[in-house]
Amino acid sequence: MIKVLFVCLGNICRSPMAQIIFENMVKELGLENKFEIDSAGTEGYNELCNAGIHRGTKEILRRKGVAFAEHYSRKIRQKDYEYYDYIIAMDKENIDDIKSIIGHDKDKKITRLLDYTNKPRNIKDPWYTGNFDETYEDVVEGCEAFLKSLKL
Ligand code: 4NP
Repeated sequence: MIKVLFVCLGNICRSPMAQIIFENMVKELGLENKFEIDSAGTEGYNELCNAGIHRGTKEILRRKGVAFAEHYSRKIRQKDYEYYDYIIAMDKENIDDIKSIIGHDKDKKITRLLDYTNKPRNIKDPWYTGNFDETYEDVVEGCEAFLKSLKL
């Protein structure tokens, strides 16, 4: 089982989008039984208010014909570090925040999604940019590159 945790700040825009897109990609390949996939945030405020996926993320997923179930925001926990094989952040700030929660990345599990591509960069936060189309394109590019890197 390959366990993957996608992480952003609020766990309502980018990381649930990455979780859903990656789930759909592995399902299309018939590999869903090989993976356990989830997402989390580095901040806890959306967990406290039981927030679901942001409507901008839902809208673009529906527009692109990507099926999804509701996901409720949760903050990353220390024990996630031992449990997951890959902890994949959306931007550099997420990486710093994850390390401040889980401590030293002794097993080198923490990466940034677009570092799997040949154009390493952050995925901008659509909570601030409002540009969910750009987020979608970046997430698809990153998930494809990550999947390819696994050489399954
Ligand atoms: P995300 O975006 O990290 O991509 O889920 C955000 C969502 C909510 C907030 C910030 C970023 N917020 O401040 O509530």
